[in-house]
Order: sequence, then structure tokens, then C-alpha cells
Amino acid sequence: MTTYSGRHAAFLEEIGVGPLWVRRTAAASMGQADEVAAVAAVVAEEQRVAAPAERAPSAWTDASPASCAPAVAEMDWMQLQAAVAACTKCRLCEQRTHTVFGVGDQKAKWLFIGEGPGRSEDAKGEPFVGPAGKLLDNMLLAIGVKRGVNAYIANIVKCRPTDAMGKDRPPTAAETDACMPYLNRQIALIQPTVIVALGKTAALSLLKRDPDTSVATLRGSVHRYAGLPLIVTYHPAYLLRTPADKRKTWADLCLAMQTYAHAGG
Ligand code: URA
Repeated sequence: MTTYSGRHAAFLEEIGVGPLWVRRTAAASMGQADEVAAVAAVVAEEQRVAAPAERAPSAWTDASPASCAPAVAEMDWMQLQAAVAACTKCRLCEQRTHTVFGVGDQKAKWLFIGEGPGRSEDAKGEPFVGPAGKLLDNMLLAIGVKRGVNAYIANIVKCRPTDAMGKDRPPTAAETDACMPYLNRQIALIQPTVIVALGKTAALSLLKRDPDTSVATLRGSVHRYAGLPLIVTYHPAYLLRTPADKRKTWADLCLAMQTYAHAGG
């Protein structure tokens, strides 16, 4: 048995987990913007020219005869980012300030997937920048990972879902289905060693579980998505409301580290 000390201990303290003992094996394992905007403008123009009569529901659906763009599953990073920036596949595009593509190392070994952008993320165009994001950053640091370095952070949907009152809400099944090809392409391009699903929406969308399935029943096992190991844990926003469950999340992160080590990460 061993304890975490120094930096790790400080981060554990920060996420609300006191001194902890973990198994030794776990411890040991332990300016394209302009170009994207230009491609997005071409995509938007393609969509405008194709509208409305001959246009498929979206010029970016794989079935669209009007689009000469590659299928999402064939896109490179630049094309994918431009496609997301110009996406009109669901009505979330109507209210968005920014699409939130994802952030991090495109060759990251760790991929963290949340639900969808909230108000702060919509305003900034970057995932997890609000209070939940601060907690997520501390969770990453606790396992020796830093935002942008060997980690990629993405969401199930790229635009902020809001209710009639303008408040954040989970994405609908249709919104999730419309957006999943983008996430699937991100996963295929990154080829992470471990995926961590943050919260119910991410876990249920990726594992295709019944809406009644709880995060609690999915925790503690190594699932697979696209052939890659997937660990389920609580969403940082939930942990802010329910700090008592931070210990469970730390156990999940330990399982993720073990999985990472076994996969040779
Ligand atoms: N919650 C999420 O699931 N994703 C974000 O990017 C922000 C908050």
C-alpha cells in the first residue's frame, strides 16, 4: 500500500478527497483557427447554395447528394472542426453562440467525455470552463493529467441545450444521435487508451443504455466503446452538488488508472 503525497495530495484535497491509500499497482501506473473558419465558411456556403429544395436535412448528413464534403467518418481534424462549426443538423444550432468542439491533445491517451456545453462553454467555445470545469481540471491533476497535455475533453453534443426558460438541460435522444458522428470521428482520430464518461448522459449515450439506468450501476466496471476501455464516473457538476460522492469518483479514477496501466499507457 502507498499514499499519495505532494502535488497529488494537494489535488486530492482540492477535489475533496482526503488522504487516501491505494493499491501500489495503481499508484505506479500512474493557429489553425483561421483555416478552420475558412473551411467552415465554404461549408456554410455549400449549405446555403444547396438550400432549400435539393438539400437533404443537412448538407453534412452522410446521405446528402448536394454536398461534396467527405463523410464525417472520413474527415481530418480540420474538416471535422469546420463541419461542427457550420452544423445545422439539429435545432440546437439556432440558439448557440459558439459550437464547442472539444479541447486538448489530438493524440491524447486520456479522453474525458461530458454531456454538452453550458452557458459558460457556449460563451467561450471551450468545454468545461465553468465551476464544474475547475473541478474536472483538479480531477485530472489528481491522476497526473493536465488539460491539453495527454488529455482530450469533449462532449456528447457540441451545442448548448437549453429549455424554454433558457436554462441548461440534457440533450434529447435526437440531438445526441445527430451529434454522435462528430464524437465518433474524434474518438477514431484520437485513439485514446482510456475513455472516461462523465455522468449519466455521456455514459448512457455511449453505452446505449435505457434512460432509467443509473450511473451507480455502471460504475466499477471496465466497459468498451469502439473497442476502447471506458470507465463511468459521476459528472463534476453532480459532484459539486453532492460532494460526498467525490470518494466514489476517486475510486473510479483509480480504476481508470489501473486500466490505463494494463493497456500499456
Ligand atoms: N458540462 C458538460 O457536460 N460539459 C461541458 O462542457 C460543461 C459542463
